[in-house]
Amino acid sequence: MDKRGKLVVGRREVLKGAAVLAAPISALGCSSSSDATPAATKRFAHGIASGDPLPDAVILWTRVTGDGGPVSVTWEVYDDDKGTKVVLGGVAEANADRDFCVKVDVKGLQPNRIYYYRFKALGESSEIGRTKTAPAGPTAHLRFAMVSCASYAHGYFHGYRALSEMPDLEAVLHLGDYIYEYGDSEYGDVRTYDPSHEILNLDDYRRRHAHYKKDADLQAIHKVYPFITIWDDHETANDSYKDGAENHTEGVEGAFADRKAAANRAYFEWMPIREQSPGPGGAKIFRKLAYGDLVDIVLLDTRLYARTKQAGGAVGAPPAPDPTRTLMGDEQAAWMEDQLKTSAARWKLLAQQVMVANLILEKGKQIANLDQWHGYPESRKRFLDFLKTSGVKDVVVLTGDIHSSWANELVNDPTDPAQYDPATGKGSLAVEFVTPGISSPGIPTIFLGLIDQTRPINPHIRYVEPSHRGFVILDVTKDRIQAAWHLFDDVVSPDPIKPKFSAAWSVKSGETRLVSENAPA
Ligand SMILES: [Fe+2]
Repeated sequence: MDKRGKLVVGRREVLKGAAVLAAPISALGCSSSSDATPAATKRFAHGIASGDPLPDAVILWTRVTGDGGPVSVTWEVYDDDKGTKVVLGGVAEANADRDFCVKVDVKGLQPNRIYYYRFKALGESSEIGRTKTAPAGPTAHLRFAMVSCASYAHGYFHGYRALSEMPDLEAVLHLGDYIYEYGDSEYGDVRTYDPSHEILNLDDYRRRHAHYKKDADLQAIHKVYPFITIWDDHETANDSYKDGAENHTEGVEGAFADRKAAANRAYFEWMPIREQSPGPGGAKIFRKLAYGDLVDIVLLDTRLYARTKQAGGAVGAPPAPDPTRTLMGDEQAAWMEDQLKTSAARWKLLAQQVMVANLILEKGKQIANLDQWHGYPESRKRFLDFLKTSGVKDVVVLTGDIHSSWANELVNDPTDPAQYDPATGKGSLAVEFVTPGISSPGIPTIFLGLIDQTRPINPHIRYVEPSHRGFVILDVTKDRIQAAWHLFDDVVSPDPIKPKFSAAWSVKSGETRLVSENAPA
């Protein structure tokens, strides 16, 4: 979505084997919603975070505010929330090369366990964080949060705060736009940024990440749940693709290749993501995380790895066939297909950036958001044809980017009766759940009437709520997966506010028909 409204590892020392017990999240004492730096110490002013859980490993992250030189940082993992029973620990170095961020891939953990952790440096200790490893083997029930699009300038991160107070999530799936690149008042004017100008170079991107990481609500959620993240466009610039972006003027704003490299570097420094060797398309974030025999999370990069330039502005007719146009590139598409084909998990959650479902403007006339899958018809057809012919079942697409809430049945052309029966859902190949923004504004008013008018001719779009911010909770069992939308009336006021349940839709294993439910699981 754009502003027009489309929407070290350091040396590690194993101390002893692991064991774990849980303490309530409330015991970790989250502070209240505000711009101010919360209870963290001066040396750990940017908080702590964890991410990318495996059955035996998890990423731990922090950033040390030192005096300019390298800092030795001790990390400890505990099986109690008071930090008295150390099960693992070691030493890492925070240095200027990684902007004094410390990322440790802690291994040797037990599956499906809650752990606590803390960093120590320069005579101070960080707060104690909580994290959880992924299960291995038979798994009956999992709950994930799904979030995206946190425009700091548009308001407060009440969604992060509310999620930090939920008791039973496995992890938070962040589908991108964790930061925004704009300068003050260029896109939202509720809060101001550091730096105040549009971010362009490595120092800018580092400062913007640092600014976000001082938000009390963001710190609160990082403190209690591991994040599983992918980037979307605004971690670089609006409507970015492999070689450019709508919000980048080549030359005037430097070379896009340099800007992208700076953005990606800062992202890897500041986010609790497990890093991989770059591929032919550059920095790589597409990867798989397994949650026992219940869920495989297949994470994609439809943004920067291989995407060719959009076919035009925000909205228009779908582009003419062009075999050179791609959203993911052959390498990543083949990797995704292989992950789906070889998955032994019941559910395959395809976590990615932009909406797959298309929108019919009037009978016989489609309208494409040219930044979404509809703007890349060859890539979209390849994916949907794969679902049709491979025999892979129980694929659920998880989407962000568009700052609005949708539940869609996916079919190549929903207007073709030979492909899809809207009355029964026959022909649907998979379902898609789209999470709204945490704070980024919804679809502009001028499009609301259009969406209402076109509902009857878009029966594959089973649910749409275009305006409100919020998040989705995914409740997963062997038999079904339910997405429940929780939305906020307001994110402009800093006063804490509770979300309201808006809708829930589920799909049964072996089926591709969305069913409305009255209450969240
Ligand atoms: Fe966004």
